[in-house]
Amino acid sequence: MTANTTTGYGAPRRALVTGASHGLGLDTARRLAADGWSVTGVGRRPATAVEQPVPFDYRSANLSLPGTYPEVAGAANGGWDLVVHSAVHYADFHHRPRLGFADTEEMLRVNALAPYYLTLEILDQQPADRFCSVVVVNSEAMYHADRHSAPYAASKAALRLLTAGLAESCRERRAAVSTLVLGPLDDERKRADLRAIAGKLGAREEEVTRKFLKRSNPDLVIEELIDYTSCFHSIRHLQNLGRRANGMVCRLDGGSAGSLI
Ligand SMILES: NC(=O)c1ccc[n+]([C@@H]2O[C@H](COP(=O)([O-])OP(=O)(O)OC[C@H]3O[C@@H](n4cnc5c(N)ncnc54)[C@H](OP(=O)(O)O)[C@@H]3O)[C@@H](O)[C@H]2O)c1
Repeated sequence: MTANTTTGYGAPRRALVTGASHGLGLDTARRLAADGWSVTGVGRRPATAVEQPVPFDYRSANLSLPGTYPEVAGAANGGWDLVVHSAVHYADFHHRPRLGFADTEEMLRVNALAPYYLTLEILDQQPADRFCSVVVVNSEAMYHADRHSAPYAASKAALRLLTAGLAESCRERRAAVSTLVLGPLDDERKRADLRAIAGKLGAREEEVTRKFLKRSNPDLVIEELIDYTSCFHSIRHLQNLGRRANGMVCRLDGGSAGSLI
């Protein structure tokens, strides 16, 4: 356990990670636990359905229901040092001709309203003398919309504005709220799809990945998917900046919004 992961009294620092049953959230919760943090991770599925190992306190809660927030926020019993909002509802939008109202509503609830209202609840419960870094994971999808992605992009754009409001409200508090904007992640599903295409074409996986990135967003200037290690370094960087990270937008997105942003 490093000095950076203990409080002034030597107790482990407390982190809350949402979306901790899968993908980036699960990876982040595992890495924080490995670094000596005391981690609570929240996902929707039951603990028995989370891929092992789960070296942290896992709790199942449906974050689209605001009634769950007081219990999730209060799980630290004494406040949090770091909160990472990674939960997301995709509704498989890439593969569906049109999302229904209910799926779009669920996206807005999980992707935008949950991080906003859960953070407000956390800040309300946080002891006045304990500093809390809140990192909100967002997506380069907020910069672009087409007929498939518009509801998802809208939920992420709403999240960005709600996050800015949270940061403004932290001027007078011992807290910082920052945004981590991510581009295409090196996750299991993308990796499996690209590997299958490479196999079919008899091409190298790196070459297929490079073409996929160029085609999926012409503004991207990276040739590899974004790895979880880089995401974790960025989260720790935002946390290490303390108050100075309030309102900050850290873009680990391969330049996907173009040159000016
Ligand atoms: N993957 C990418 O390429 C990419 C690109 C840019 C940005 N991002 C951002 O990175 C973050 C993580 O994405 P990911 O792809 O790693 O996610 P993921 O693998 O799809 O995992 C989503 C997580 O959110 C949880 N979740 C969904 N609905 C929930 C609900 N109602 N209540 C509680 N938990 C709920 C899921 O729990 P269950 O599975 O248990 O339901 C799961 O743990 C997101 O903010 C996403 O926008 C991802």
